Amino acid sequence: MRSASLLLYVIFVHVRFAWSWSCESSGTELQLFGLPKGAGAVCNDGTPAQYYFAPSTSTSSSKSSSDTTLIYLSGGGQCSDETSCASRYDGSAYPYHDCDSSNATSPCFMSSKDNPDVCLKGGIFSELVKTANVVYVPYCSSDGWMGDGEFGNFEFRGASIAMAVVDAVVEAVPNTKTVIFGGGSAGGRGSSVLLDSVSERLKDNGVKRVLGFLDSPYYVEEDPMGDFEGFQQQTIDVYNNFISGSDLEEMIIGSACGDAYPNEEWKCLFGQYRFPFIETQHLLVADQFDGWQLSHNIHDYDGIEVNPVYTDEELVNIEEFAGKQHALLATLKEGSVYATACYSHHISEGDGFVDYKNNRGISQSDALKMLIEGKGVEMVEGLDEIPDEFVCCCGD
Ligand SMILES: *[C@@H]1O[C@H](CO)[C@@H](O)[C@H](O)[C@H]1NC(C)=O
Repeated sequence: MRSASLLLYVIFVHVRFAWSWSCESSGTELQLFGLPKGAGAVCNDGTPAQYYFAPSTSTSSSKSSSDTTLIYLSGGGQCSDETSCASRYDGSAYPYHDCDSSNATSPCFMSSKDNPDVCLKGGIFSELVKTANVVYVPYCSSDGWMGDGEFGNFEFRGASIAMAVVDAVVEAVPNTKTVIFGGGSAGGRGSSVLLDSVSERLKDNGVKRVLGFLDSPYYVEEDPMGDFEGFQQQTIDVYNNFISGSDLEEMIIGSACGDAYPNEEWKCLFGQYRFPFIETQHLLVADQFDGWQLSHNIHDYDGIEVNPVYTDEELVNIEEFAGKQHALLATLKEGSVYATACYSHHISEGDGFVDYKNNRGISQSDALKMLIEGKGVEMVEGLDEIPDEFVCCCGD
């Protein structure tokens, strides 16, 4: 009886858009900027990494600029070994853009060659630009922003790119007092790993306050039901191929986490294990029926399934996954968790940032405001209970 109603429920699921690196057709207008040469901030194909910037609209009519800046790393999956990186390049794997015939509408995710001069963004950008300068960083390193190495035919310099952007922004907006550093999906994973180092670096440069906004980075260990190799193995490969032996390795792994997991450094790149070590104040945004993890783990789908239909056995597995994630999230720092019980993933770049609410009527935007105001969202208000039934998107 229960399974029949579950199946019916699932059929009407329509997944919220998952935002990989992209510019939109409307929204806040951000301008393209380059990075200083020599910082090692290059894309997979060796083209220079770049970033987009818009000053706060609160200050466009006056001389003084806002002293708060959002730096947001974009997402879009990753590759981890020669096969997956070749497939990412030729468009046979996520995000399914062929790098040899790419353009601004269907950009190569391993290059800056398609970056338009202007990028329009909604969601968190339109909302924060009212009071803060906003920076959006295109994703061209395919390493979850964690790499600093050369592998096969490609460069994997995500960590160097992020650091170079942070330095460039502080120089471009010298009166910055508060930085909100974060990102979504792959950008959320990278910004989680880099947050404490970024915070230290910014404070050395006169920034008073650093906060994290970490959207959908929370990987939980799970044995996939299908042929997918698993996020654990992917992360092990990322560590071995793009990080191990790099000058930045200690910065990326983090010394406390590295000490806790000797010879298992990959765990320090993996949400479940890394989050307890993150010291900088932050908001962790998660969907407890995370569309990215479930699509891969349940149906070996490289992307996010729209309207997935699950068997009873799969639904049991999904409930277990959500329950496990819920229990882990409940152990994290008070004030740091915003986790809906929806099938969704990384919506902060869209209208859902403001429009969708959790069970307590709180949106991501509300939760971020609470963080900025210094109190954070209480665990009981931020962490939705897991319902008995698999739930689709928030806000309906
Ligand atoms: C961009 O590339 C995609 C995929 O190759 C193609 O379908 C689309 O027509 C191209 N758009 C333009 C404006 O050239």
